[in-house]
Amino acid sequence: MVELDQSYANIKYGVAGTALHTPVRGEIEVLQDSLIVIDQAGLIESILTPTNAPYKKVKNDLKDHGKLLELSNTEYLLPGLIDLHIHAPQWPQMGKALHLPLYDWLHTCTFPLEAKYTDVTFAETVYRSLVNTLLSNGTTTAVYFGTIHLEATKLLADICLEHGQRALVGRVSMDNEEQCPDYYRDLSTAKSIEDTQEFIEYLRGQSGEAGIVLPAITPRFIPSCSDEALAGHGELAEKYNCHIQTHCSEDNWSHDYGISRFGKTDTQSLLDFGLITDKTILAHSNFINPSDIMTIKTAQSAIAHCPLSNFLFSNAVLPVKQLLDKGVQVGLGTDVSGGAHVSIYDSCVQAIVASRALQEGVNASLPPEDRGIANASINFMEAFWMATAGGGEALGFKVGIFSEGYCFDAMIIDTAATDSNLVLWEDMDSAEDILQKIVYNARRPNIRTVWVQGAIVANSNK
Ligand code: GUN
Ligand code: FE
Repeated sequence: MVELDQSYANIKYGVAGTALHTPVRGEIEVLQDSLIVIDQAGLIESILTPTNAPYKKVKNDLKDHGKLLELSNTEYLLPGLIDLHIHAPQWPQMGKALHLPLYDWLHTCTFPLEAKYTDVTFAETVYRSLVNTLLSNGTTTAVYFGTIHLEATKLLADICLEHGQRALVGRVSMDNEEQCPDYYRDLSTAKSIEDTQEFIEYLRGQSGEAGIVLPAITPRFIPSCSDEALAGHGELAEKYNCHIQTHCSEDNWSHDYGISRFGKTDTQSLLDFGLITDKTILAHSNFINPSDIMTIKTAQSAIAHCPLSNFLFSNAVLPVKQLLDKGVQVGLGTDVSGGAHVSIYDSCVQAIVASRALQEGVNASLPPEDRGIANASINFMEAFWMATAGGGEALGFKVGIFSEGYCFDAMIIDTAATDSNLVLWEDMDSAEDILQKIVYNARRPNIRTVWVQGAIVANSNK
């Protein structure tokens, strides 16, 4: 622990109460009646427990300085949630059009909607609504796809900065005349690369290279981009040492398209275009083969697992447990609006359900031993780890756990909130039970205060 300056001038405040987190995959750590001390930069300066000698004194001193927030005995402190894959412009389409296969959904519903973001007034209304909703749901970090439009995507980044949400934001690149409609396509390959470069420089200018909102190079997926655009975006990634995001081997159609065009899988094509790095987030990746897995692991790229979207669009379930056991970085996403929910707690539940379906199998006409895949299921602690610590590792950010030097991105869950669907029974629920109950049933009514980098970004008194 760092020595605390007696005047506490370098301390923003302390939060006293019980914190729950999963610093190691599959394990819960309970910081019972802890005191988390946050510095003026919004980083965790120290974590004290009642057995640490200075606990009482520091707690009293912070109280005297008006810098102590004490949780009630129905409240728990948890790390903020990380959404590794979300399409901001698809927010107006949430819960709609989910009966269609991916290709039809893109061409009949999604591209027409995204084309509307030439209108920055519309963009502002949608993006403010979404960022506020995510923060109120405890999503402290979001990895956003915007649209092809430079101005609307700049606005999305500005709104994240204004609301204090940690984010990666990408201007979507789509220049392939054969796969993108005339009404929704970059004007040319050169313009596609130019607009991405302008977006990176704009956002770095607004937020700084280590700011809380950073640019991500975003070729939508292989079908939407020409070879030259893919290569050009790979060069930009190297030049700017930027994050990269794209969809990878999502469904049978897009996976087969990539193979017929390049004679190799999406992962290998992306690698050859310079788009697989330790700053790459690959959405879905359901159809990756053993060699792709090695490529992703070696490069330390990460996979954004979006289980509901996969059930609806992907023709398969990601073998998430096997990937994690092999040391591949995997976090969770919502894939709004391919996934029709905003809460990453819902992604946790669906990741558990998907993994169980993979393990048990779903076709009752087969004998049980032929129905599923052994050792495929994950538990709630692994799911919560992916939603927090795993997502943080995937991004290379110090978020997702309570540890000295980490950013204080956190939420208070009030288990006794009005309208709570979560009910605790004193003397019957262990800390592990409480975390499991939170994952399954704590939602917006339970989320009281949300912080990003020590700043309050959502607050409600329910
Ligand atoms: N592949 C290309 N674009 C999209 C999209 O917007 N959503 C999903 N789920 N997959 C895509
Ligand atoms: Fe997506």
